[in-house]
Amino acid sequence: MPATHDQSPAERAAELREQINLHSYRYHVLDDPIISDGEYDALINELRAIETDHPDLVTPDSPTQRVGAQPASEFVKVRHAQPILSLAAAFDAAGVRAWYERIGKLIPAGAPVAFTVEPKIDGLTVVLTYEDGKLIQGATRGDGVIGEDITVNARTVKSIPLALLPGAPYPRRIAVRGEAYMPIDAFEKMNAAQLSAGERTYANPRNFAAGSLRQLDPRLTANRPLRVFCYAIIEWGAGPDGPDAPATQWQLLQTLKAIGFPVSDLSRRFESLDEVIAYIESYNDKRDTLNFEIDGMVIKLDDLRLSEQLGSVGNGPRGALAVKFPAREATTILKEVLVKVGRTGAITPNAVLEPVQLGGITISKATLHNFDDIARKDIRIGDRVIIKRAGDVIPYVAGPVVAARTGAECVIQPPVNCPYCDTALIRREGEVAVYCPNDECPGRLDRAIEHFVGRGAMDIEGLGTKIVAQLIDAELIGDVADLYALNKEDLLELDGFAEKKAQKLLDAIAASKQQTLDRVVFGLGIQHVGGVAAGALAAWYGSIDALLAATPDQLTGIDGVGPIIAESIVGWAGRASTRDLLTKLRQAGVNPSQEPRRAVVPVEGPFAGKTFVITGALSQSREEIAAWIEARGGKVSESVSKKTSYVVVGDAPGASKVTKATTLNIPMIGEDELRAL
Ligand code: IVH
Repeated sequence: MPATHDQSPAERAAELREQINLHSYRYHVLDDPIISDGEYDALINELRAIETDHPDLVTPDSPTQRVGAQPASEFVKVRHAQPILSLAAAFDAAGVRAWYERIGKLIPAGAPVAFTVEPKIDGLTVVLTYEDGKLIQGATRGDGVIGEDITVNARTVKSIPLALLPGAPYPRRIAVRGEAYMPIDAFEKMNAAQLSAGERTYANPRNFAAGSLRQLDPRLTANRPLRVFCYAIIEWGAGPDGPDAPATQWQLLQTLKAIGFPVSDLSRRFESLDEVIAYIESYNDKRDTLNFEIDGMVIKLDDLRLSEQLGSVGNGPRGALAVKFPAREATTILKEVLVKVGRTGAITPNAVLEPVQLGGITISKATLHNFDDIARKDIRIGDRVIIKRAGDVIPYVAGPVVAARTGAECVIQPPVNCPYCDTALIRREGEVAVYCPNDECPGRLDRAIEHFVGRGAMDIEGLGTKIVAQLIDAELIGDVADLYALNKEDLLELDGFAEKKAQKLLDAIAASKQQTLDRVVFGLGIQHVGGVAAGALAAWYGSIDALLAATPDQLTGIDGVGPIIAESIVGWAGRASTRDLLTKLRQAGVNPSQEPRRAVVPVEGPFAGKTFVITGALSQSREEIAAWIEARGGKVSESVSKKTSYVVVGDAPGASKVTKATTLNIPMIGEDELRAL
């Protein structure tokens, strides 16, 4: 409505505020504006002009004040009118029924029961207090009793009404509870903007919303696209002549909506628990289509008086229940970063995690995208990190929990040379990934897999280059052990696979679990270990575990194994990625063993024909010392006899062995003498 001539500036300002509040409500709450942005701006500008000319007319609830007040040095504490409770949780239909069975016993027989179901917004609680229809305070939940005064920040959130609408009678004083959140699209945009401005990014919309609302400088909050949904009334201060508080949760939501609060239009009222459950289950999939994160749905007894009578248990009202969806996020410790070389030579960092349950699976690995991303998010080894996984999506590290740092975390340095072939890594124009340009790099995933499935190794028929590439590109396999986790559904999704072909391949993969040790050792693609060396190693050690414990000296004592091979094996055995892969293979059923021949293979060397007995603690483990002796042609025996050549004595030797050696007059030597022999 345009200004009339006989209006005072104060009257016009009041009128403008009312109009602007209404349009703001239509725009930010109802999502249904009735004027254009230009017309809206004109109203705001007119109000701003009046307020500039008449500063005494500025009120805290004026829509011009949404830009944010001066920064504060700390948040003032506020006591809530009543404890800001949380909710008991269930995770499935059975949990919902169990809840209702529990409270059903407390509900008077025959009383009609209805429920409201609301989305459980994954944001943070805000408590908004109004007096005479004007926002006078915004507070965080805090510990539920004492929260923080964030009024100036709340004023910048456009969907929080500064003044209530007369759509329904409201009391003189009212405190409303809601959830502040950041829409997903806005979150992504803001994070991208933060990134290019060199500011910190956030792992999820909730953290971003929390960080925004708890800003000491409200002008920053004003630039963050926060929203709220309201769902509860904490205080209804109507006095004896004021309007009655809503009697049901459904009415409560309608009242909140009518007086200007944003209320989720996903809320529903049902009269049977079956309908409630069906509605909630329908959101298991639909949650992905929403522009805000929900981590479940909330069921509330519709009858608020009944709910009140049921009281609370723990820190939640008996009359309400949160039904949680499978989590998509968990936090755990980042133990290590492994580097993999992809099919194209791209170097990718992978996180090794302390195992954590997420969405029904245990996660101990996750991708870290690339080294730029690690640096940008400032992810460090030892950090508590947020792991995300939506549906079938491969888990990834979304970011660190900075607040959980102890100072012992290590910054992750990007590699300069390929960890597999030492070639200098390159970066291609305009790409974030770094590459190993060596086509022959033993770390290349496709080569590693082709080698593993090849004729001389696991001999898996039907797994040619093209299919290996398909499997890698579909992210079905990230290492050779993943072959054993493939299932028919995986394969049927690939081009060119039908039932029969898929089954044939799965059979061939399963059959390869029976391959002999020499083939497995060869298939693992240890640098420089060809078929002959693999055969000698298998014969000598008899198992992969024994090979892992091999020492360089012992290895070079084996026919067909020179110092270069030995060094390569020891390097391979020492890598965490090797141990992880072998564990995975073992779990998949690939764990061949055979009788080790090392005891009977005659080896030339200084100890040929000599038998040693070891007693007491030496500088290395018994096995290592024994291996060192064997590598030099000697034999190691458990007990002292006439045939014993030397007894090697360490710290705290066995008394019986020493006595026997003395009786039989067998030379006793220390470790230094042994090495000198
Ligand atoms: S009712 C006593 N309704 O979820 C009333 N809570 O896990 C308790 N939340 O702390 C809250 N959406 O921050 C309720 N529609 C909704 C909600 C909701 C999100 C949050 C709230 C609460 C937490 C409980």
